[in-house]
Amino acid sequence: DTSVSEARQDNPMWSSRLAFILAASGSAVGLGNIWKFPYITGENGGGAFVLVYLLCIALIGMPIMIAEVMIGRRGGRSPINSLRMLTQRDGLSTRWTWIGWMGITASFLILSFYSVIGGWALSYVGQSAGGVFTDSNADSIGALFGGLLSDPWTLLLWHSVFMVLVITIVAGGIRSGMEKAINILMPILFILLLVMVGYALSSGDFAQGFAFLFQPDFSKLTTEGILTALGHAFFTLSLGMGVMMAYGSYLPKNVSIVKTAVAVSVVDTVVALLAGLAIFPLVFANGLEPGSGPGLIFQTLPLAFGQMTGGVLFGTLFFALLVVAAVTSAISLLEPVVEWLEEQKGINRLSGTLIGGISIWVLGLFTILSFNEWADVHPLDFIPVFENKTIFDLLDYVTANLMMPLGGLFIAIFVGWFMNKQAVENQLDINNGYGFKIFMFILRFITPAAVATVFIYNLV
Ligand code: PFF
Ligand code: NA
Repeated sequence: DTSVSEARQDNPMWSSRLAFILAASGSAVGLGNIWKFPYITGENGGGAFVLVYLLCIALIGMPIMIAEVMIGRRGGRSPINSLRMLTQRDGLSTRWTWIGWMGITASFLILSFYSVIGGWALSYVGQSAGGVFTDSNADSIGALFGGLLSDPWTLLLWHSVFMVLVITIVAGGIRSGMEKAINILMPILFILLLVMVGYALSSGDFAQGFAFLFQPDFSKLTTEGILTALGHAFFTLSLGMGVMMAYGSYLPKNVSIVKTAVAVSVVDTVVALLAGLAIFPLVFANGLEPGSGPGLIFQTLPLAFGQMTGGVLFGTLFFALLVVAAVTSAISLLEPVVEWLEEQKGINRLSGTLIGGISIWVLGLFTILSFNEWADVHPLDFIPVFENKTIFDLLDYVTANLMMPLGGLFIAIFVGWFMNKQAVENQLDINNGYGFKIFMFILRFITPAAVATVFIYNLV
C-alpha cells in the first residue's frame, strides 16, 4: 500500500527543499499579493485589517499549510487519492475525500476570474511598452483603466490569451523549463518591487502610506473585514483546496515541513507588504481613493512608471513579471481540474486540459460582463450576505471567504483529531515535545475555533 507513495518520494519532483519552496511560492505568489491585497486593504481601512490578516496568516494559514503538506507527503498521491488512502489505512470515513472535491470546484471557479485579471495585467504590458503611461496624470490613467473595463471584447481578448498560455503550459511538457525560468523571474519581480518601494519612498507620500498600512484604527474594522482578511489568508497561501497537498506529495522525506511552510508563508507575506508599500504612498500623493476597488494597482502604478526615469522599461517588465506570477498560480489551479478529469473520467491529458481550460474560459465570460454590461446585475440579492454583489464579486466571495476557509477547517480537524497521531509526529519530526504540543493545540482548538467564529458572525 505504501509503495506508490514511497516511489514518489524516492524519486521526488523537487530536488531539494529550496526547489519545493520555489514551486510552492510559485503557486502562492500571484495576483493575490500584488492586485488583491492592496485593494482589499484599501477598502477595509488599512492598519487594523492588515493586523488581522497577519494574525490569520500566522495562527491559521501556517498551521493549515503544514497540515496540508503533511497529508500530501504521507499520502503520496493526488489530493483525493491521498485522503482516500489515509482514511482507509486508519479505518476512517472516506467522506474526508470531500475536501478534495470541494478543492477542485474552488480551483475551477477561481481560475475563471483569475484569468480575467491576469488579462488586465497582459494588456498593461502592451500599454506600458507603447509609452502610454508617459507624462500621464491620475485622470488620464483612470480613464485608461475605465476604458478597458467598459470594453468586453478587449477583456475577452486578453482573458483568452491568458487562458491559452495556461492551457499550453499545462498540456505540454514545458513545465520543467517553466520552473527553471521561475527561479530567475521571481527574484527579479521581487527586486522590481523593491525599486517601486524606493520610488514611493522618494516621490510618494511614504509617511502616510506607511501609517495607513501599519497604524491600526480599529474603528474601521468590520466583521465583513475580518472575514475578508481570513479568506485572503487562505487565498494568498493557496490553502484549503488541496494544492499544497498535491505539492507535498512530491516532498522528500528528510525535508522539514514546518520550516518549509514557514518559508513559503514569509515569502508570500513579504511580497504582499512590499506591494502595499509601493502603492499606498502613490495613492495618497496623487489624491486617489484607497478604497477604489479592484482597479487600484492599475490606476496607481502606471503613474509612477509614467514619471520615473526608465519608466517604460520598468513598467513593461513589472507587468510582464506580474503575468508570470499570475500564470504560475494559474497552473496550480488548472492542474487539479485536469488531474481529476484524467483520473476519474479516464480522459487523456491533452483532452483533459482542453475540456477543463475551455470550460473555465467560458465561465470567465461572466466575470468579464460583471465589469460592464452586467455591472448592475446582482443575482443573489435576496440572500443578505450576497447582497449588492456582481457575479465576479460572488465568485470571489464564495471561493475565498467560504469554500477555502471551510476546506481549511476540515483539514485542521482531520489532522488535529483524526489522522494517526504517530504518523503526524513522524511527519513533523519536531524533536522537542513542546513544539509538537503547541502545534497540535493550535490545529485542534485555535484554528477551528477562529474559522468557525468568523463564519458564524458573518452569516448570522
Ligand atoms: N495564491 C494565489 C495568489 O495569491 O495569487 C492564488 C491561488 C492560487 C489561490 C492557487 C488558490 C490556489 F489554489
Ligand atoms: Na499569494
